[in-house]
Amino acid sequence: MHQDIEKILYSSEDLSKLVACISDEIAEDYKGKSPVLIPILKGSVMFFADLVRKLPLDCTFDFMSATSYGSGTESSGNVMITKDITIDIKGKDVIIVEDILDTGNTLFYIKNYLNDKYEPASIRICTLFDKPSRRKKDIKADYSGDEVDDMFIVGYGLDFDENYRDLPYIGVLKPAVYKKTKE
Ligand code: IMP
Ligand code: MG
Repeated sequence: MHQDIEKILYSSEDLSKLVACISDEIAEDYKGKSPVLIPILKGSVMFFADLVRKLPLDCTFDFMSATSYGSGTESSGNVMITKDITIDIKGKDVIIVEDILDTGNTLFYIKNYLNDKYEPASIRICTLFDKPSRRKKDIKADYSGDEVDDMFIVGYGLDFDENYRDLPYIGVLKPAVYKKTKE
């Protein structure tokens, strides 16, 4: 285990099971369809890569990136698209793939943005983790791996200050790590 991690919450095996459950649900709902997956960089890359390889559907994908200027570990409502999609999604069934749905600021903005600009047939949200107790915007996940309490998690794509994305598991940081970055 990495020296900055206090506890592992989801092992690689746990994560594979969550991804398999989500894949089954999506496969059932989109039977005979070819959805367009839009993963939001960078947090969702590991989840997306595992999901898209499990999903027994013909699908296409393109990446999007957004920043939200907020303080510390919380996003703000001021979301800015820093990388837009380049494939055509007009009239298509879109699934936004995100690592974690927290306040909802980011996905609320992105969902409206994609709807207004590109007029897809449908948009659903698929997130590996959901923190419903933190929600500030009226937005729900259509597919979610698991709900987590109000705590900050890292690994499997999720970062703290751009670090720990490469860990193959999801864990909680030691409190000393947060303190260090504040000094
Ligand atoms: P929201 O706009 O508040 O919903 O923020 C969503 C984004 O915040 C996610 O895509 C993550 O990048 C980040 N985020 C929220 N909670 C966590 C966490 O516990 N660990 C790592 N990143 C998080
Ligand atoms: Mg992040």
